[in-house]
Amino acid sequence: MNRYQGRVVAITGAAQGLGLAMATRFAAEGAAVALADVNEQALTRAAETITDATLRTDRVDVTDSARVNAWIDGVTGELGRLDVLINNAGIIRDNRVEDITDDDWHAVIDVSLTGGFHCARAAFGPMKRQGYGRIVSFSSMSWRGNFGQTNYVAAKAGIVGMTRTLALEGARHGITANAIAPGLIETPMLASMNGPARDKLTHKIPMRHTGRPEDIAEAAAFLASEAAGYITGVVLDVDGGISIGSSIR
Ligand SMILES: NC(=O)c1ccc[n+]([C@@H]2O[C@H](COP(=O)([O-])OP(=O)(O)OC[C@H]3O[C@@H](n4cnc5c(N)ncnc54)[C@H](O)[C@@H]3O)[C@@H](O)[C@H]2O)c1
Repeated sequence: MNRYQGRVVAITGAAQGLGLAMATRFAAEGAAVALADVNEQALTRAAETITDATLRTDRVDVTDSARVNAWIDGVTGELGRLDVLINNAGIIRDNRVEDITDDDWHAVIDVSLTGGFHCARAAFGPMKRQGYGRIVSFSSMSWRGNFGQTNYVAAKAGIVGMTRTLALEGARHGITANAIAPGLIETPMLASMNGPARDKLTHKIPMRHTGRPEDIAEAAAFLASEAAGYITGVVLDVDGGISIGSSIR
């Protein structure tokens, strides 16, 4: 499929995990892809795995709004337009509420929520001028609440509120905004979670197995497509059914 031919897709946190899987998928469907990440070495290695595509890589810390603005300017300047923004960068610093330090709180909110805002604000101008845009931001199954994740849950619930508001403000300009709420997906982030907690959660997935980054790339490639133009303000759960609720077996 070449449904992204002529389209420019910008992805944050693109050096590994879900970001890299999405970059690979959009490139395979013909897009020019701008990959941004705070980890420059990993980003260079990641870009080398994607062949036969127009790519741009930038070291961008999404918490730095001036850097984000310069990145989006650079992307539109070099690649001519910006059709899709994937707000994917995120981090975890899990702890029970009384053990979350100020640093742990701010770091998670700054990357996972404020970073997404910086990128969406920067993307809105070029998307409005084109009369076309797709913003897909990463929430999490945790947005409804999760033990030991006050900071992360606040950020991921914030992404839902932000997405719904971007959807309202973008609607008359041809811009859609949607969120993806992944369940447990096999990435370096999941690998960093402690073993017993991960096993307990995996057992709660109705499908009884974790997801692959490609499962998320599939959802993103749909939500960011031209064909999904009448879908806006939604949160798409991609989680093997874990968010449905309790199950007797
Ligand atoms: N993997 C899962 O099971 C899962 C579940 C729910 C939600 N998510 C969300 O999906 C997104 C991607 O997760 P992942 O599992 O691929 O994570 P990951 O840790 O494997 O990759 C995240 C990437 O973001 C980059 N990054 C971190 N801070 C950054 C910053 N300040 N600026 C730019 N880049 C930065 C990292 O260098 C890394 O390359 C995150 O928002 C995460 O919260 C993941």
